[in-house]
Amino acid sequence: MKQFKRTLITTALPYANGPVHIGHLAGVYVPADIYARYLRLKGEEVLMIGGSDEHGAPITIRAKKEGITPQDIVDRYHYIIKKSFEDFGITFDIYSRTTSKIHHDTASAFFRALYDKGCFIEKTAEQYYDREANQFLADRYITGKCPHCGNESAYGDQCEACGASLNPTDLIHPKSAVSGSVPVMKETRHWYLPLDKWEPFLRRWILEDHTEWKSNVYGQCKSWLDMGLKPRAVSRDLDWGIPVPVEGAEGKVLYVWFDAPVGYISNTKELRPDDWETWWKDPDTRMIHFIGKDNIVFHCIVFPSMLKAEGSYNLPENVPANEFLNLEGDKISTSRNWAVWLHEYLEDMPGKQDVLRYVLTANAPETKDNDFTWKDFQARNNNELVAILGNFVNRALVLTWKYFDGYVPALNELTGCDRQTLQEFAGVKAQIERLLDAFHFRDAQKETMNLARIGNKYLADMEPWKLAKTDMNRVATVLNIALQITANLAIAFEPFLPFSMQKLNGMLRVEPLGWKRLGATDLLPAGRRLNLPELLFEKIDDRTVEAQVQKLLDTKKANEAANYTPKPIGEMIDYDCFAPLDIRVGTVLECVKVPEADKLLQFKIDDGLQKRTIVSGMAACYDPQDLTGKQVCFIANLKPKTLKGILSEGMILSAEGAAGQLTVIMPEKPVKPGSQVK
Ligand code: MF3
Ligand code: ZN
Repeated sequence: MKQFKRTLITTALPYANGPVHIGHLAGVYVPADIYARYLRLKGEEVLMIGGSDEHGAPITIRAKKEGITPQDIVDRYHYIIKKSFEDFGITFDIYSRTTSKIHHDTASAFFRALYDKGCFIEKTAEQYYDREANQFLADRYITGKCPHCGNESAYGDQCEACGASLNPTDLIHPKSAVSGSVPVMKETRHWYLPLDKWEPFLRRWILEDHTEWKSNVYGQCKSWLDMGLKPRAVSRDLDWGIPVPVEGAEGKVLYVWFDAPVGYISNTKELRPDDWETWWKDPDTRMIHFIGKDNIVFHCIVFPSMLKAEGSYNLPENVPANEFLNLEGDKISTSRNWAVWLHEYLEDMPGKQDVLRYVLTANAPETKDNDFTWKDFQARNNNELVAILGNFVNRALVLTWKYFDGYVPALNELTGCDRQTLQEFAGVKAQIERLLDAFHFRDAQKETMNLARIGNKYLADMEPWKLAKTDMNRVATVLNIALQITANLAIAFEPFLPFSMQKLNGMLRVEPLGWKRLGATDLLPAGRRLNLPELLFEKIDDRTVEAQVQKLLDTKKANEAANYTPKPIGEMIDYDCFAPLDIRVGTVLECVKVPEADKLLQFKIDDGLQKRTIVSGMAACYDPQDLTGKQVCFIANLKPKTLKGILSEGMILSAEGAAGQLTVIMPEKPVKPGSQVK
């Protein structure tokens, strides 16, 4: 394995068209931050680059909807996103944005360099055009019916209902999202990066030279390569973005996926104007891209082809992409508000950054999609952070205060048990390193938690509180060892739980101990005075997580209501078809649940002439007592039918709303039972 002098860590630039949520954190920023902190603790030279991706059609669509400019949108979200990352302790060396001057210049120059070298092909092709708005339509600007699932509001690039990736021409009944008119085909000229030309190189570089890449990444690359690459347009007809720096390209901008990855370069330049090239061009620098799975093709195929075409840049050494994190069984979605937003999490759970970091790492979608649930969040906090890590650290410190007034006691003669425990955690360092080096953050964290487990078991086996009655020398030794384990935890957990470990370092009165010393048994010298212990974690009760689940259920309901579109009007009929229906008003004398039929209610109705029984399927929507005494409308001349053994004489009318919600139709003021409805 080649040894590198320094590491450039890049993190996918999130689109500045919404806040960031747990999916972002789990997929990209927490793993990148763990890795960066780990390397820094080891004393390595590292830069971690981040920023907002502020171009692209979705931002312009959102702006149009809100009646403000794209710049307003990205200004709003850039700062919200940046703050969320700071709040969660994501240690970017720079977090900038693609609307910066330096980025515009850098991306423009990058395009121009490829253009001058003849790396593009120019092609004229037909594309949807909006004749009312006088503009070409980006894929996202065209909506229509999805040919796969029938969703009426699929986009020209993707159907969000079934996930199918689409071409605008796949849509049935395409409609412009700008004016609502039906778009027409019109010729337009664009620049294409001939990926097919780079295919032989990419095959070698990925499939032969990087067999160590994660299998999900390698597999996706292989399948792209096996399908055969085609030239990809790197310009768009759009009025938001970086102008194509070529004569005669008015109204055209760089495709967002051309400019955004160049943002990694721009942001490095902004941070290190003097030696940025060392970070991009020196073969002793290693570049790692942290991304989610939907970004794999751009970071493993498109961007490397751009870098290779330019010729002077390094290619990534590794691209440890993650799969997706779902939320309570459903795909996270910004537009459907199905997410746990980071800024909202911190409002609801102040100070609990590390809990979320821990849970997201424990469930990281490293090899397959994974699910975040609030129940699991609670269980991991209570059963792991509180019961194992917090409990061990607290016992070690409290006992030290109890028996030694807060001074680290001396290590006396060792027993076999002491030796065995020391030996057990001596191996942990190599193990954690091996896992972190391979980007297995989930297992690395698990292994770190094992260190706390070893400590807990040791204290439980030694029972220093019992030894205290007979042998204070033994108590000293046991607590010394427990404190050394605690100090080791403060090192090993730093990349994962930085806030809590900072607190722990304070209790131990140490400056952060370097990674090198992990595994040492003399981290805390005897005689050192410790600070008073505080709890590192606290239990999360049922009420807290139930409130979060309720918040999601409310979102679901609101979505269903918002997405409700009435069915198209039915076929025309003559009055003669309506006339025979005898609809009447009746008064509900009695209403009860039908036993063993959870949907059904049984009504006794005064219809003005007699009492009749009607069975109706609205138990999910009404409590029987709420309908007793009310007046309802029913079809009086429907042939009786037996339901669950009860003869039902008619049908009560109700309106069906979003998600099958039923509302009973009632006369606006009381009328005589038996009145006809016309
Ligand atoms: N904005 C893109 C996304 O959220 C990621 C861009 S990564 C970069 O999917 F490489 F282009 F910067
Ligand atoms: Zn679909």
